[in-house]
Amino acid sequence: MMGVSFPLASVSLLSHLRFIPIPITASASASASASASSWLLLCLRNGSWRRKHAAAVTKWDHRHHYSSFASHSLLKQRLSHSVAVRIRYDNGGSGGEEEAVLMSTVLGIETSCDDTAAAIVCSDGRILSEVVSSQTDLLSRYGGVAPKMAEEAHLQVIDQVVQQALENANLKETDLSAVAVTIGPGLSLCLRVGVQKARRFAGKFRLPIIGVHHMEAHALVARLVHKELEFPFLALLISGGHNLLILARDLGDYVQLGTTIDDAIGEAFDKTARWLGLDMRRGGGPALEELAREGDPHSIKFSVPMKQHKDCNFSYAGLKTQVRMAIESRNINTEKNVISSIDCEDRKARADIAASFQRVAVLHLEERCERAIEWALGIEPSITSLVISGGVASNQYVRLRLDDVVERNDLQLVCPPPRLCTDNGVMVAWTGIEHFRLGRFDPPPPEDEQEDTVQFDLRPRWPLGEEYAEGRSKARSLKRARVHPSLTSIIQASVKLHR
Ligand code: KG4
Ligand code: ZN
Repeated sequence: MMGVSFPLASVSLLSHLRFIPIPITASASASASASASSWLLLCLRNGSWRRKHAAAVTKWDHRHHYSSFASHSLLKQRLSHSVAVRIRYDNGGSGGEEEAVLMSTVLGIETSCDDTAAAIVCSDGRILSEVVSSQTDLLSRYGGVAPKMAEEAHLQVIDQVVQQALENANLKETDLSAVAVTIGPGLSLCLRVGVQKARRFAGKFRLPIIGVHHMEAHALVARLVHKELEFPFLALLISGGHNLLILARDLGDYVQLGTTIDDAIGEAFDKTARWLGLDMRRGGGPALEELAREGDPHSIKFSVPMKQHKDCNFSYAGLKTQVRMAIESRNINTEKNVISSIDCEDRKARADIAASFQRVAVLHLEERCERAIEWALGIEPSITSLVISGGVASNQYVRLRLDDVVERNDLQLVCPPPRLCTDNGVMVAWTGIEHFRLGRFDPPPPEDEQEDTVQFDLRPRWPLGEEYAEGRSKARSLKRARVHPSLTSIIQASVKLHR
């Protein structure tokens, strides 16, 4: 293998350029075949240029995709950004792996719940565009996410949202390197809208496609915002449907330290806000946080959930019941009264409930995080950060309280800005980039894919990692029916297969 210096390639060589990352996923490996005639043009991390011969490659032809490399300067410009893509090459039969430098620009699509979002992100961390269309009107009308209506709402705006993301980024479809889309966990009907759009788009423009885990995306967006955040780290992921404590050992390698045995904290915020008659149009969580500022957090003595269970799991169903009872015992009639039209005294009573609920809901997080830090440091002593993300992590009180916890433990708190904590396309695009540069993606779907006959790979119930065995709770009665194998187990199995 000879090293060559730049400028190396004539235009004719460039027109033969293939860029072929390792097929790691099981489905990609099915199409793998050895090709003796492929050459890779690599810029190594140390800045030297090499031309390499690739032996372990997929059949998929990237020619069309890299047609935008047709001029030297563009190639140079693209490769000048430093992003590593690991390539497997055959060095005279001995095999090996090398890091190449390549810029990728990925479109991320998110429709797992009630937000239709798209964004375009570069592998150097630049966010070129981000668009979110929320269903808050539907939420306030129906009091929760009704899957059929949510699906309908996604269908109405998805094309426009993606188009807007391209326009705001000032890009054409062919400028993209790949499409990333959330495939789970979430509501099947909703996931389907995003996946269908992503496959049509990727099929039409011959782009690779990366299926993304929604909760992994919530965690990894922290690495986009804080470039220095390295694995391993601890993450608390708090949203409307999930409450997770995760030890992120490496990309795609997660240990689940705790989860909820019933409701997630976001669901408890939303229900409490509704029962208190708050304006749900901006979302229950933000409305409750705002009202709680006016209340006395010690006025009502709600009990902290699961005190007797010395593990890292969560429960919010009992706290919801306590709140319901507190509202009933104070004769607050939320059916008739909208918060904006009530008298001062009534408003104070509601604010006290809001503040007391928020204090105890967050105390539960604090206690679990204290224990999780202890466990995580036992498993990975090099941990220095706790990431908090997911919609509820945009709450200022949550951030303040958890900041105290990490400080006591000599860690640092890493918290994405609120707009990147709630559901968004940026986190999906970024997670796509993280996997794409390790070669984890599927080839473009056929342009004429028969959507009624193809069964999309949707994973509505999909754990991020295996449960931490020593921390398994006795209080757990988790429903295990029809759960997809965890992301971590899938990746580990495919890595073994390709070793
Ligand atoms: O991550 P996310 O946007 O969607 C899901 O994956 O569920 O989280 C939405 C949840 C909702 O329950 C919402 O009320 C809550 O996050 N949330 C908040 C705040 N902002 C959003 N909860 C408390 N305080 C907030 N400021
Ligand atoms: Zn979410």
